[in-house]
Amino acid sequence: EEDLAQIADLPKVELHLHHEGAAPPAFIRGLAKEKSVNLSGVFREDGSYAYRDFVHFLSVYEAATQVLQTPRDYARLTTALLEECAANGVIYCETFLSPDFCGGGDLGAWREYLHAIREAADAAERDLGVTLRGVVTCIRHFGPEKSRPAARCAAETAGDWIVGFGMGGDENRGELNQFLYAFDMAREAGLKLTTHAGEWRGPSEVRSAVEDLRVARIGHGVRAIEDLALVDLLAETGVVLEVCPGSNVTLGVYPNLAKHPIAELRDRGVKVTVSTDDPPFFHTNMRREYFNLANAFQWDADVLRELTRNAADAAFCDDDTREKIL
Ligand code: HPA
Ligand code: ZN
Repeated sequence: EEDLAQIADLPKVELHLHHEGAAPPAFIRGLAKEKSVNLSGVFREDGSYAYRDFVHFLSVYEAATQVLQTPRDYARLTTALLEECAANGVIYCETFLSPDFCGGGDLGAWREYLHAIREAADAAERDLGVTLRGVVTCIRHFGPEKSRPAARCAAETAGDWIVGFGMGGDENRGELNQFLYAFDMAREAGLKLTTHAGEWRGPSEVRSAVEDLRVARIGHGVRAIEDLALVDLLAETGVVLEVCPGSNVTLGVYPNLAKHPIAELRDRGVKVTVSTDDPPFFHTNMRREYFNLANAFQWDADVLRELTRNAADAAFCDDDTREKIL
């Protein structure tokens, strides 16, 4: 038990965290009250987020974002989420930021949101010792048309702080190659790439992410385990998986942690990392993820340090920043 507590206290690097999905329910409720936004249906009686399944989760998520209306709201959210990261021993994290929620794809508005978020992040770095970088995401179920202005916002703000481009949303909608234009635009702007794949759809989706979108990392990607030739390909090419075990168990991708493929993927040579996805929605945090993994797979501190190292190596930041977190 003492060992598990020590493992949970290790410094951590988190690569897969949705900015709005990190909002504590009390934070969203507070903003709703301030702004007189009716959020009926978003919360259970006990105050937690209410959803039945993944698709419903996405719609509750989008309902909650209705209270995030200004750059100042995002600055406050950024402070709240980085406080939570720091409390969990996270020293570096990347969050997914969507122009669709921050100005609706308008570049001028997007710049204002980013400016506010970055100011809050700089203050948190100073005060809490946690470093934030942004990965711009388009949203799959919003469709390929919307992915283009999102990619343009990403390309125009690419640099030392906006370091990547990716895609979230409902994996069961559309096909990855419909988003080629957006991913190519982002790549040409120098951004590193990641996409959600292989959480709800099977191995062929993961293969398409690697071969068509040419991403360096994959959000989840765990269902690659159903095709061992693909697992070998991931191992050989060094494509990194942003694994979110607690999210997968809460959403029912796997019935429990013991049945989760993260250990087998690692044993087969895949570079795996650990993240929370949307921590308050999935009743998790980074300390809990480390604790539960150590417990379920008898992983010692060295294994967890390896996963942290994988995440630092796969972070999209520049090498000066990376050196500080290694
Ligand atoms: N998965 C996919 N899309 C999302 C998520 C998620 O966990 N959170 C917000 N958008
Ligand atoms: Zn996600």
